[in-house]
This record gives sequence, C-alpha cells and structure tokens, in this order.
Amino acid sequence: MAYKDVYDSWKADPEAFWMQAAEAIDWTRKPSKALFDDNAPLYEWYCDGMVNTCYNAVDRHVENGRGEQTAIIYDSPITHTKREISYVELRNRVANLAGALRAKGVGKGDRVIIYMPMIPEALEAMLACTRLGAIHSVVFGGFAANELATRIDDCTPKAIIAASCGLEPGRVVHYKPLLDGAIEMASHKPEFCVIFQREQEVADLIEGRDVNWHGFQYGVEPAECVPVEGNHPAYILYTSGTTGAPKGVLRPTGGHLVALNWTMKNIYNVDPGDVFWAASDVGWVVGHSYICYAPLIHGNTTVVFEGKPIGTPDAGTFWRVISEHNVRSFFTAPTALRAIKREDPKGEEIKNYDISCLRALYLAGERADPDTIEWAQKVMQVPVYDHWWQTETGFPIVGNPAGIEALPVKIGSPTVPMPGYDVQILDDNGQPMKPGELGAIAIKLPLPPGTLPSLWNAEARYVKSYLTTFPGYYETGDAGLIDEDGYLYIMARTDDVINVAGHRLSTGAMEEVLASHPDVAECAVVGVADQLKGQAPVGFVCLSKGVDRPHEEIAAECVKLVRDRIGPVAAFKLALVVDRLPKTRSGKILRGTIAKIADSEAFKPPATIDDPAILDEIKSALQTIGYAK
Ligand code: COA
Ligand code: AMP
Repeated sequence: MAYKDVYDSWKADPEAFWMQAAEAIDWTRKPSKALFDDNAPLYEWYCDGMVNTCYNAVDRHVENGRGEQTAIIYDSPITHTKREISYVELRNRVANLAGALRAKGVGKGDRVIIYMPMIPEALEAMLACTRLGAIHSVVFGGFAANELATRIDDCTPKAIIAASCGLEPGRVVHYKPLLDGAIEMASHKPEFCVIFQREQEVADLIEGRDVNWHGFQYGVEPAECVPVEGNHPAYILYTSGTTGAPKGVLRPTGGHLVALNWTMKNIYNVDPGDVFWAASDVGWVVGHSYICYAPLIHGNTTVVFEGKPIGTPDAGTFWRVISEHNVRSFFTAPTALRAIKREDPKGEEIKNYDISCLRALYLAGERADPDTIEWAQKVMQVPVYDHWWQTETGFPIVGNPAGIEALPVKIGSPTVPMPGYDVQILDDNGQPMKPGELGAIAIKLPLPPGTLPSLWNAEARYVKSYLTTFPGYYETGDAGLIDEDGYLYIMARTDDVINVAGHRLSTGAMEEVLASHPDVAECAVVGVADQLKGQAPVGFVCLSKGVDRPHEEIAAECVKLVRDRIGPVAAFKLALVVDRLPKTRSGKILRGTIAKIADSEAFKPPATIDDPAILDEIKSALQTIGYAK
C-alpha cells in the first residue's frame, strides 16, 4: 500500500481506521466506538473501552512467549554499566514496585511524581504507576527545585519517586536536596517519597516520609494490572507555554496505546523484537513515547542510554551503542548530531564501528538544518528522516512513513501529515492559504487518539491556548508552509517558546525570573541563533532608577537567578544591561525585532515603533557579546 492510500483511507473513514488500529491492543473490554464527540470541540477516544497500559507494554508479551526477549538495554558510559532486562524480569520488577505502592495506598487516579535520571528504574516507576491506574508525572532532572515545586502544587501527588542523584559529565546532580527543597517550597506535601539509592551518592532519608526503593518492596504482594477507562489519564507531562506556569499536558490511556503502537511499524519501520533507540531523556515527551511506551507496547527492545553524544567518552559513543546493541531505528535531536559533527567533522569515529544494522535515523525536537542532515546522510549512510511533533500530540504529526512507503526526502521538510492529522496553513483570519504561502500551522479538529484531550485541571486554559484563535482547529504554535507536493516546512514559533538543544523553553518564564531581581525594572528574553543548540536565550534588563552597581555584577546575578529558579536546562548564560527596550507605541516589546538584529538578519521595524533609535543601542549591546554583526 502507498502512503496516499493509507492517508486517504483514514480521511474517508476515520472511525474505521482507528477501530482497526485499536485491534492491535489487548483490551479488557473493547470500546464500542473510537471517537466520542458529544462535548465538541473537546474530543475523546475509546472512552467506553477498558484497558491497562502496563499490561500492553509488558505482561502481554510475557504471556505471548516474548518473556525471555530483552525489553530494556541499559547502557551508561557515565557509570560504565551495561545491563539487560528481559520482559519477564521487567514484569516481575514492575509488579513488585506497583505492589509496594499499592500497599502504601496508591491507587487509580492518584498522582505520582517521578524525578529520576536515565536508568531503567525510571521506566519501571512509570510502568508501575500505569499498572495501578495511577497518573504519573515525570519531571526532567535538569529543572531546579522551584520548577519541581510548581509541578507538585499543580498535580498534588500522593507520592514522589526519585533517585538519590543524577550524573552529568563531571558533576553529580544532587536530586535528594533538590527534592527536599521542592517539597519544602510547595504548599502540597506528598504522603511519602520512594528513594532509589544509586551507589554514586547515597542520600539521607527523612524518617516518616521517605522509604527506600528496595526496602519498601520487601514482602509485598505483587500487583496485578488494573483496567481503566480508555479516556483515563495515563500521565501528565508539563511543558512550556507562554507564561511561567507550565501546562500539564494530559495523555489518555486508550488512544496513547493505539497511536503509539501504530507508529512503530508505519513510521519507525521496526518489527517486534527489533532494537529501537531514542537518545533523549524520560523527562521529555520523546522519552515517554519512544524510550518507554511505544517500543514496549510494540514488543521491541528499547535502549536506555545514560550519556551524551560527546564526552562520554567521545564522539563515537552513539555509533558504539548502535553497533553493539544492533539498533535498527535510531531517534535523536539535531543538536546531538551538531555536537558530534563539531567534534568529529569528517566522521572518523564512525569508521571504528559496524553500524550496518541501522536502517534509518529520525530527527525531531527542533528544526533540522540542512547541513546537519547532509552530514548525517554522508557519514551514517542511511536515510535521515526529519519529523515534527509536540508534547501535546505525543507522536508525530508530520513525518516520513518509512514502514508504509519511504517518500523522497526534501531537505528542510519533515515530509507529510500522518493519518489522523489534517494539517492546514491559516492566515490571521483563519482562512486556508495557498501552497507555498507562510502562515500559522493548525490542525483540523478532532486531533487523533493519544493527543491531549485537555490540560490537567485547566480546561479553560486548554481552550484558550489551543482552540480559540482558529475555531474548529488546534493551534500548534508553529508557523510554516505546505508546498505543491503536500510537504510541510516548519519555519518558526508564533509564541514565546524557544528551542534550546531540543529542549522547549519559555522566554516568558525566564522574564518572570529576571523581573524578580530587585534591581531590574523591565526585561525581555529572546532566542538568538546558536550554532550548537539551535537557539540560545539572551536576557535584556533595564535597571531601576538609582541603581549604580556594576552592570557585570547584576548580569551575573541574573544568570544565576535563572539557573537557580528554572534550572541548568534553561542554558541561560547571557544577560545584558541596557538603558531602554524597543517597543511599539502601545508598549509591546519588540522581541522578534531584537532576535533579528542579534542574528544579523534583515528586518523592518514595525510602523508603530516608538523610538527607532533604541534599536541601535540594542545592536551595540549585542555586538559586545559577538552577535549582531
Ligand atoms: N539533569 C541535570 N542537569 C542536566 C540534565 C539532566 N538530566 N540535562 C542537562 N543538564 C544540564 C547540563 O549539565 C548543562 O549544565 P551546565 O550549564 O552546568 O553545563 C545544562 O543542563 C544545559 O544542558 P544542555 O543544553 O543539554 O547542554 P550541554 O552543554 O550539557 O550538552 C549537548 C550539549 C548537545 C551534548 C546536549 O544538549 C544534547 O545531548 N542534546 C540532545 C538533545 C536532546 O536529547 N533533546 C531531547 C529532546 S528530543
Ligand atoms: P516539544 O513539545 O518539546 O516536543 O516541542 C515541540 C516544538 O518543537 C514544536 O512545536 C516545534 O516548534 C519544535 N519542533 C519539534 N520538531 C520539530 C521539527 N522536526 N522541525 C522543526 N521544529 C520542530
């Protein structure tokens, strides 16, 4: 079958398409229908089915004779550890952990925060929650205590499962003090914390609140899988929006299972038993979908890699992992390849490894620049597929359906819409635009199964953020165009979100932090082009009247403040003190214009600009840090 036939068959009868895709999932009670639209424009899928995520990701494979197959390969060049966990071991480990959580009162619908690095126990914690119908929320290890506290207060977890530490090259990330600090800051207090003690750092436990991962499992009854309704939330994953308050994206159980399973063959072109590797982190959506759930649901072997593309120990690490573990399909962010390319431009390292097992490279998370794609094609000698999606959707919106039909690659385009997504380019009035014209990228409702039905405890915010600008559509927040052949091109974000090293960050959140500095009267944060990370944040601060301390001192404090409040992941290293910020006459800060000046791009200030002379001041300030050439 060709891609077009599959896409057209979905368009002609979405209900039949998604009911058929649902056949690949083991339901305790089959759903009577796919789409539930009584509450439109809020849509849900498979609501009257009963199903369990962990059963589909783990137990069913054991029951179907895959018990001895490796489910998880843990490869940590940081700790020099390699370990394999079979499906049957995984089932036993997860059932015990779930049993222990249940014994302490965790059940269906309870929230559990997971704060763990890239170790198999992170996946086990996720699976133990879904086994019980508890709703997990994984928090990335690169966030500061304050961000963790915000999430604790928003999803009010009964328990928190954390590791004693994470390991970054050259430094131990002390998770436990961060966790203790976050709980102290938060108004909501979890009933208990489960701490996985790593040998690199054993944390002090707080009596009466903290239990040891191993100790609390001793002697408990393993838990069975608890079937839940198709629309029961499997997890909440917080992502950046325009303001400092992160959005709690909800992932519904039934649609998540169906959609992820569909993608493994049709997009990633792997069969059950094949090894699949996504080099990301469980704290991001890529980690949820393609390190943990999709490969396991589909009966693949997944790789949990605790390391970096370079420096652990060298730029050949990715090639070693691919070759040693027989990886078939590999997924990473363009930044990771840029890092390797910078260190090993000629691709010498790859010659030390046989990566003939690899069939394709998949890139997402940020724009894949042509240089990086071409370099990867040349060095890796496999097709390189860019694909585009978001935390909100949980799986690719636009990609190259290699398992159905590998379409010709057009460099710069993530290719074509996947079934389930009617992607359109709209003008400011919500009218569809012609091929080749640049506009807002929107998706006609309903979104497919597995995508967010709402935000946790914030339905009004969901409607306002995504469904209001273009009635009848989901607003993606990205701008781009579709060419004559139906290929999509992503050009920019339409909001304040920036993408740093494949990490989605809110400039609004950073501005809130800068504004809290006692000497800062006004500020703006913009994303400027960065050769390695795609974008980097730069802060501009105007000082309050009468402040006469050295500017460098205040700038350094601003950098520290963002690191302390948001975390190292914000990669906020540049702050500039300026006299004034360029604004429109109505007072709107011209962030887009500042970014263009920084990137030395041609720009036309808006006619409504208040004082064009300020642009020269900004340019001079940027020149002092090597921008705005
Ligand atoms: N826990 C704690 N801190 C973390 C962390 C984690 N899980 N992940 C990153 N950090 C820290 C880093 O140590 C760094 O701290 P520093 O300022 O003290 O150096 C900071 O957050 C910024 O990290 P990052 O932007 O990732 O930069 P880097 O210089 O450490 O590494 C790359 C650069 C290119 C190697 C790295 O960004 C990379 O591998 N990117 C791949 C992106 C990716 O997988 N994205 C996921 C979405 S698909
Ligand atoms: P996240 O929710 O963290 O996955 O970030 C989603 C955002 O990252 C998208 O809305 C885009 O802005 C950007 N993004 C993801 N994949 C791509 C891609 N292939 N090309 C361009 N931008 C991308």
